[in-house]
Amino acid sequence: MSKQELETVAQAMVAKGKGILAADESMGTIKRRFDSIKIDSNENNRRAYREMLFTTQGLEEAISGVILFDETLRTAASDGARFAQVLSNKGIMPGIKVDKGPVDIPGFPGETVTEGLDGLRARVKEYKDLGAKFAKWRAVITIGNGIPTYNCLAANAHALARYAALCQEGGIVPIVEPEVLLDGNHTIERCEEVAEATLRITFSTLLEQRVHLEGMILKPSMVVSGKDNARQAGVDEVAERTIRCLKRTVPGAVPGIAFLSGGQSAVSATEHLNKMNQMGPHPWQVSFSYARALQDPALKAWKGEAGNVAAAQKIFYHRAKMNSAARSGSYTKKMEEAA
Ligand code: 13P
Repeated sequence: MSKQELETVAQAMVAKGKGILAADESMGTIKRRFDSIKIDSNENNRRAYREMLFTTQGLEEAISGVILFDETLRTAASDGARFAQVLSNKGIMPGIKVDKGPVDIPGFPGETVTEGLDGLRARVKEYKDLGAKFAKWRAVITIGNGIPTYNCLAANAHALARYAALCQEGGIVPIVEPEVLLDGNHTIERCEEVAEATLRITFSTLLEQRVHLEGMILKPSMVVSGKDNARQAGVDEVAERTIRCLKRTVPGAVPGIAFLSGGQSAVSATEHLNKMNQMGPHPWQVSFSYARALQDPALKAWKGEAGNVAAAQKIFYHRAKMNSAARSGSYTKKMEEAA
């Protein structure tokens, strides 16, 4: 695939009014989500849940692409069509999580590096043949006493850049996700400092490894107060600090920034995105790639029961549309009440 084709896909991923649905929960994560509604994580339930999400009428108005887990990319919906095809038929691009998760870094307590580079060239080829247009790799950065260390940031940036280069070689667009966790009692100032250091080394490493910036999407965390910090910054402060941090570190050549939600409430994630877009125009599209902030209300309404599918889809569609409105800064709290 040419650079031009990568750029076209990357731009479509962050098209105006649209964002990405992250539905690539690994086996451990989907089990935790299903535990919260007291249902088993078996293949049938996972299929039923993802089918509920993906067959929501009108989803393509707000969602450009969906990140899938390996199993889901290979699975067929109840009518026999593979999920990748179900999505493509609606004009939604299928994507794939290709990392194999974080593992402890020896000698650096509390820090992880993400694995999955071995054999990745061959897996990218297979995923492309299965219909994936883009991929995701998540690095995890924890804020704590004396961490993150430089070594942790460098190891994760190196892996992200190696992954991104391999994806582009194989003709799929990499989503580069260095997630700074919001867990902890740190201040928002500390979060901003860590986010800036993380993005700085991530982009210098992407450039060293000749990643084509116009053919990738960045998926960062927002700059927020630590979850257990007594002072929780408001919407304006989160938006201002996040945009300032991104302007300092993310080259304008990158077509889009698609935030993760990281455990913020669904409405907060929408409000923050909305405020940031009101502050624009920015050098890049400012979009979303949420998992929990898009799915949680629908998951709670679904509860694993076929009889709840229509109600859950209505709630899911509403959440997607609220974030679509936030893409242009035109979201208001009133729109929640109206629904
Ligand atoms: P959350 O939006 O729930 O943080 O998930 C996004 C994601 O894909 C994490 O890798």
